[in-house]
Amino acid sequence: MPLIPLRLTIPLRPWLAPLRWLTAHHWLRAADVDACLRFLQPAWALTRIHARVEARRWVAEDMLAIRLRPNCNWPGAQAGQHVQLFIERDGVRLSRSYSLTAQADGCIEIAVRRQPEGRVSAWLCEHLSIGDCVELGAPYGELRWPQEGAVLLAAAGSGITPLLGLLRDALGRGFSAPVRLLHFVREQGQRAFVEELQQLQARYPNLAVEWAVTAGAAGQRLNAEQLHAWREAHVLSCGPAGFVEQLRELVDGQAASLQVESFTPPQWRAEGERRPVRLQFFRSQREAVGDNQVSLLEQAEAAGLKPEHGCRQGICTQCTCQLLEGAVRDLRSGEISHEPGQSIRICVSAPLGDVRVDL
Ligand code: FES
Repeated sequence: MPLIPLRLTIPLRPWLAPLRWLTAHHWLRAADVDACLRFLQPAWALTRIHARVEARRWVAEDMLAIRLRPNCNWPGAQAGQHVQLFIERDGVRLSRSYSLTAQADGCIEIAVRRQPEGRVSAWLCEHLSIGDCVELGAPYGELRWPQEGAVLLAAAGSGITPLLGLLRDALGRGFSAPVRLLHFVREQGQRAFVEELQQLQARYPNLAVEWAVTAGAAGQRLNAEQLHAWREAHVLSCGPAGFVEQLRELVDGQAASLQVESFTPPQWRAEGERRPVRLQFFRSQREAVGDNQVSLLEQAEAAGLKPEHGCRQGICTQCTCQLLEGAVRDLRSGEISHEPGQSIRICVSAPLGDVRVDL
């Protein structure tokens, strides 16, 4: 039984400021302070975001919704954002990114799709229990609900999760323009949050939800006809890279606005001829022969480094580091960065020639 309830850490937050000052000036060790705080409340920490599992429920055959109560270091999040969740298994720290599906009463909800081979998702689904603590990163993500006008939400698989977070928030704030949610799943049992979505449909007449099952000969696919009546709507989409690319092509500039996010890294476009380059990782004092078509994150990992990262798609900023020398190309836009000291996201930056980075 914790000595201090987790809720009480919120009003006690100002008390941490002097402790942070003392650790910043090396009068105390952060690890010792954390150990004391953990003794009082297992999810309390000086700066890190820990959260206690409050509830768990299956919302599809392969998807588990987990309600978490973060400690006082949680900065708050916007609907549609994601968080990095960290666990330790056999002494190895592992992390995955999950979208927020709801926020209420100081709690957040994430939904974890169980991947048969997934080291993190399988463990969370099988072993994470009510009362356990996990560590979270700061929220990130740029999907935003439009101010006004009809909205089309197109999701595939677990891409439903950030869109559901946005939808719940918008309807709760009184959004009254027509909204259509299309959710593509491989199997019938993978339709997620069916009950909640049906309840939302019954409560909000401006919402229409449709599911499309893609497996089998009669499987339904995303097509131009489904989008035709919504040509001038604001379109938000989330799913695997292939799905959002197809949607982008079908929409082809006809939507009022288009926001997409994919949870698998897109296929980066190669540019110019493949050639070897010299990579210098300044902080770790390592050098490697690299490739001008591959992201610096992958190449640093191949060289034995473990740079911090999250989404691997240029969204979360966790992999940001300084370019010290040379030039890099943004694999998404082709934009070149060459200023020494400039911040770059190494998951989406490939070296143009020899480079030195602060890793
Ligand atoms: S890992 Fe998220 S921006 Fe690079």
